[in-house]
Amino acid sequence: MKVAIMGYGTIGSGVAEVLRINQDQIQRKVGEPIELKYVLDRNEIAGEDHDKLVLDFNIIAEDPEVGLVVETMGGIHPAYEFVKASLEKGKHVVTSNKALVDAMGSKLISIAKEHNCNFFFEASVGGGIPVIRTIYHNYAGEKLTEITGILNGTTNYILTKMRDSGASFEDTLHEAQKLGYAERDPSADIDGFDTSRKTAILLSMASGNRCRHEDIYTEGIRNVSAIDVEYAKFLGMNIRLLGSVQVVEDKYFAYVAPIMITKNDPLYPVDGVFNGIRIVGNCLGTTMLYGMGAGKLPTASAVVSDMIAAVRHQHEFQGIGWSEKMIDIEPMGSNAFNYLVRIEGTPDDVANEVKDLFLNDTTAFHPIVLDGRTDEFAVMTDVMFESDFKENMKEFEEKTGRRVFHFLRAELGKD
Ligand code: HSE
Repeated sequence: MKVAIMGYGTIGSGVAEVLRINQDQIQRKVGEPIELKYVLDRNEIAGEDHDKLVLDFNIIAEDPEVGLVVETMGGIHPAYEFVKASLEKGKHVVTSNKALVDAMGSKLISIAKEHNCNFFFEASVGGGIPVIRTIYHNYAGEKLTEITGILNGTTNYILTKMRDSGASFEDTLHEAQKLGYAERDPSADIDGFDTSRKTAILLSMASGNRCRHEDIYTEGIRNVSAIDVEYAKFLGMNIRLLGSVQVVEDKYFAYVAPIMITKNDPLYPVDGVFNGIRIVGNCLGTTMLYGMGAGKLPTASAVVSDMIAAVRHQHEFQGIGWSEKMIDIEPMGSNAFNYLVRIEGTPDDVANEVKDLFLNDTTAFHPIVLDGRTDEFAVMTDVMFESDFKENMKEFEEKTGRRVFHFLRAELGKD
């Protein structure tokens, strides 16, 4: 099979590298060589592949020898047009581009079906972690009720460093940028958009239908402070940016937000740039996938595994994907959490209001006071719907005249 790579950046050049490093093994597995014929890029490229460079996509589209196209350009345009044209010519397409899969996935899947070829996107979520194929193949007989993951390495690295060093978010971000772990423009990662797109893909997989990442409540990690981290440490918890989807009968819940998790949560030990994805099925119970969610060779490895699948199934549409029907996502207020509420002043004279508005009748009031702090205390609420919690928080401020400095969602009950 002759292939073309569109976009020779970190991932695209990584794909060429993996094809070279594991050439013999790949040929043995697929029964024929996978031969790189073209590289499409706007820029000159150095190294072994420079003689394969083309600047015009039509050369790839019009070459009947090319049966498989890898899209690692990123962004939606012109990636969408190139992928669509490739599928319409009956060429299989493999992509790592989550923005494309999120925005145009269902359309491209249906074009692939129409032309009896495949559109595979394993690398778009979880990098080198085989989450997509696991869900479609290994869990094909499961009703998935929840998929919750640490889906972004950059933010997980920052949150891990903040915990270990006690430093502020800003200082940790600058340090991560200096070390090359965070982009110079870090917004897509730290504001949660990267996680939100991946979460939308997971929800589409869990529901079998299409959704919009714009409809998923998305909160990044900019507002996680060193004091928040201190409370989490005091409680033996980790703060993690989670992307979560839940399917409850015909209702769909999803969010992206920093959440405090306990040691019982399988995601608790996922530190640094690693990703973890917890999957819950009705018969399966809970499993977790763990590994490198980003990086050149891990992500390229997932692309290559899709390429192998495409060659193995070159004469049939594999049915990995979801329908074009759009689903509604329940509002954030209908998700339930515990909340760590950081309240101005000392606990003594507001105990009744705390009990009344944040705790069940049977829960004792245990204020959390960090060493040396007299200006604030915190309380961990019982599980409440977010809409109720926000109303009660407002009522608490009005009744007591005390400010709530900040709150953090927590999940005390996951294991
Ligand atoms: N910037 C992403 C991360 C890369 O940090 O995980 C993969 O989407």
